[in-house]
Amino acid sequence: MTRPVLLSGIQPSGQLTLGNYIGAIRNWKALEDDYDCLFLLVDLHAITVRQDPADLRRRCREFLALYIACGLNPERSQIFAQSQVRGHGHLAWILDCYAMVGELNRMTQFKDKSRKHADNINAGLFNYPVLMAADILLYQTQLVPVGDDQKQHLELTRDIAQRFNTLHGEVFTVPEPFIPPVGARIMGLQEPTAKMSKSDDAPTNAIYLLDEPKTITRKIKRAVTDTDGEVRYDPQAKPGVSNLLQIFAAVSGRDIDSLVNEYAGGGYGRLKGDLADAVVALIEPLQARYNEFQADPALLDGILTRAAENANARAEATIRRVHEVLGFLQ
Ligand code: TYM
Repeated sequence: MTRPVLLSGIQPSGQLTLGNYIGAIRNWKALEDDYDCLFLLVDLHAITVRQDPADLRRRCREFLALYIACGLNPERSQIFAQSQVRGHGHLAWILDCYAMVGELNRMTQFKDKSRKHADNINAGLFNYPVLMAADILLYQTQLVPVGDDQKQHLELTRDIAQRFNTLHGEVFTVPEPFIPPVGARIMGLQEPTAKMSKSDDAPTNAIYLLDEPKTITRKIKRAVTDTDGEVRYDPQAKPGVSNLLQIFAAVSGRDIDSLVNEYAGGGYGRLKGDLADAVVALIEPLQARYNEFQADPALLDGILTRAAENANARAEATIRRVHEVLGFLQ
């Protein structure tokens, strides 16, 4: 029996954060058994910001080792780097001709990144969402589990697919997003009004999956809260405490109301201490598994090569069909 296709990806830039885990990877794992999954290391996307080549190569293997340490099953799912399948860039060009400049101009991530990298606003940064659409449409993906910040890109992907299909027949499956009800936007610990990010300049703002346990505890204990001392979930008025509750709910599987009941009246100290213990309990075994996988580069390269071969064959089938409807010579 064929399972519906699920695809998602992460840029191998910076260091994987607890936000990536909660917003993306843990949902990939939860859905893995019910879907035919492809998980990408989107290195083509990563070069929209300058990367050191040796670091990029090292980070791709590191992220793969972390994916499997988080519980993804490389025997069952295809885990590979975007650059290993030439079809991504090829389809992105074709879809560029079906994406409107006005639409791309509205992408909030483009605006944010242009501000952050004002000295390098390259065309790749602008076309970034079209490459993401190509990643998804290349494999006839049905479900795309992502955090809240990717929602707008998913909507654009659906619009591009529908526009292409209206002109050329049902070539692409129109994908659905999966955005988790809890933890879709984990905020920074020092700046709880902005999302926790992999490439944060202030390392105390993010919890990295490879942080030492004592560093994690210290970061959580120093997280910015407020002065009224009341444990209550209210992201507008109390962004710091609400973010801690959100993280706690996601890592413990408990709901926010029950956490608020338990910690109400106790000040922030106990909440932070117990949250730190819960995050460390999640991350310690993950790091132990990561170290085992990292010690076996042949295993990691084997996973990538096998998956890329499988993905290439699948991508080719879509590209053949696209060429046919566009009138390209076969
Ligand atoms: P990226 O690398 O910025 O983030 C990877 C995934 O992690 C989620 N995420 C978060 N979730 C909750 N809280 C946070 N603070 C947080 N930070 C990041 C993101 O929503 C994302 O799901 N363009 C994508 C990568 C991509 C992709 C794709 C995704 C390329 N092609 C195809 C899905 C399908 C990106 O830059 O994600």
